[in-house]
Amino acid sequence: MTILVAGTLDDDEWRMWWPLLQAALPEERLVREGVEGGDAADIDVALVANPPPGTLQGLPNLKLIQSLWAGVDKLLADATLPAHVPIARMVDPAMTDAMAQTALWAVLALHRGYFEYAAQQRAGVWKQQSALRRADEVTVAILGMGELGRRCARALTEQSYAVAGWSRGDGAAALPSLLARADIVLDLLPLTPATRGLFNAATFAQMRRGASFINLARGAHVVDADLLAALDAGQLEHAVLDVFSTEPLPPAHPYWSHPRVTMLPHVAAPTDPRSAAPIAAANVRALRAGQPLANLVDRARGY
Ligand SMILES: NC(=O)c1ccc[n+]([C@@H]2O[C@H](COP(=O)([O-])OP(=O)(O)OC[C@H]3O[C@@H](n4cnc5c(N)ncnc54)[C@H](OP(=O)(O)O)[C@@H]3O)[C@@H](O)[C@H]2O)c1
Repeated sequence: MTILVAGTLDDDEWRMWWPLLQAALPEERLVREGVEGGDAADIDVALVANPPPGTLQGLPNLKLIQSLWAGVDKLLADATLPAHVPIARMVDPAMTDAMAQTALWAVLALHRGYFEYAAQQRAGVWKQQSALRRADEVTVAILGMGELGRRCARALTEQSYAVAGWSRGDGAAALPSLLARADIVLDLLPLTPATRGLFNAATFAQMRRGASFINLARGAHVVDADLLAALDAGQLEHAVLDVFSTEPLPPAHPYWSHPRVTMLPHVAAPTDPRSAAPIAAANVRALRAGQPLANLVDRARGY
């Protein structure tokens, strides 16, 4: 049988991924979508990185779709995705560590005023903030306590922050009271119909005045105009944004120059092909051996 590798990767990314996937699966025949031809009936596994919609239709013997990315919202949005083929996503401890590093950086910078000090340096101002709060006096609400959220909670707890988590099992009714007591709200939710636009005028109003917001998950969680309004009204102190509804963020977008927005270009926790390729390969081998597949996506939940 044959493994199809498909995705919207640029040439540099392909050059990185291709030898690593081949090295991780030396016993398999890999073909790259659109490069090598072959019989569609031979393909039983697809390794994918957000392939263009329609890529995975017409593969009658497909048994596993293994995403090389952690988030599967774009993949699941493909209406032609074969209905009964299991989908696994990427869960990689190296990526999880990277997310914890970014979350810790953002929380530390917000709590200790490092973003303000950076602005002061640009303005030639020497000014020490008074009345520093201890970390245990800073409540960080983590929305989404999955693989990434739990790891971030551990990193923040180790630094003495007061961490409170929210996941689907807690229900929507638990959210307002959590938002009301958080100094920093950290978004690590998947993008699903339930979380799209979750951060809007109503939820920003439920947050404590002067709270800050960190989005390391998906841009479409946020109603951008409402976030800008909350920042401009002083309801929110600062936003740290790694992800955007449109990426790259268009040059004219107000986030670029907003004094209380700190941006990253979707780098909070990039997939590292060196660790991810063997993880994808392990799931292919589990399939071949008839063993349970890891990190399966529940299509009905959307993550
Ligand atoms: N910026 C980056 O570089 C980057 C990198 C990787 C991933 N991401 C994003 O991070 C997201 C999370 O990744 P993960 O691996 O931690 O996902 P995960 O393990 O699937 O965890 C998702 C968490 O969100 C919770 N959740 C889902 N829907 C919810 C809802 N409607 N209300 C409340 N909680 C809800 C889940 O609750 P339950 O525990 O109750 O199921 C779970 O705790 C990914 O989907 C991706 O979009 C971003």
